[in-house]
Amino acid sequence: MSAPCNVVVLISGSGSNLQALIDSLGEDNPTCIRAVISNRAEAFGLQRAGAAGIPTHVVQHKDFSDREAFDAALKTIIDEYSPHLVLLAGFMRILTPGFVRHYQGRLLNIHPSLLPKHKGLDTHRRALDAGDSEHGCSVHFVTEELDGGPVALQAVFTIGNENSIDALTSRVHAAEHVIYPLAVRWFAEGRLRLASEGAMLDGVLLPVTGHLIRI
Ligand code: GRF
Repeated sequence: MSAPCNVVVLISGSGSNLQALIDSLGEDNPTCIRAVISNRAEAFGLQRAGAAGIPTHVVQHKDFSDREAFDAALKTIIDEYSPHLVLLAGFMRILTPGFVRHYQGRLLNIHPSLLPKHKGLDTHRRALDAGDSEHGCSVHFVTEELDGGPVALQAVFTIGNENSIDALTSRVHAAEHVIYPLAVRWFAEGRLRLASEGAMLDGVLLPVTGHLIRI
């Protein structure tokens, strides 16, 4: 069994991805969630963390005069846990370049589209408006380019007749809950890493869309 991989999770809302990560933990999984931090005191994910016995912190962006000050406070708390990996799980803040560089290669995000398509917000509506035949979600390393870092893993599905935003949202969420814990586990096991050329799995450079799982 591998040594524990200390993880800190950043959230802003419901935390269903956090819950999927918590549910994936077990004796044969080296991942250990050390703390959950939210920029919103009312985030339901804080209750999920509390129920799992995970320490929580609230760092409210509205209490800081600028992004640099907020990110510095966030970084101070995160680094108290000496994390091997920091996860953005529905964390709705744009991070400063200095923060992102500090966690280079150990900062992952889950994004609700098939990157590099539909970076940013409103991804389900934009997939429908574009007439996409497929949709899905991506786990990627975070770099200074918003939603632009190397993709590790994607779940893809055919849109078919489910042409409402609600239907796509549910399908993407279900897919996220599969691929985020899987990518985190790969990282914790030392199988997934960021190299200068891109994301690598088991020593092999992944394509720009990452490892693909069709669901
Ligand atoms: C997810 O759809 C994720 O892709 C996006 O924010 C949402 C968070 O959902 N970045 P939850 O808080 O994990 O339920």
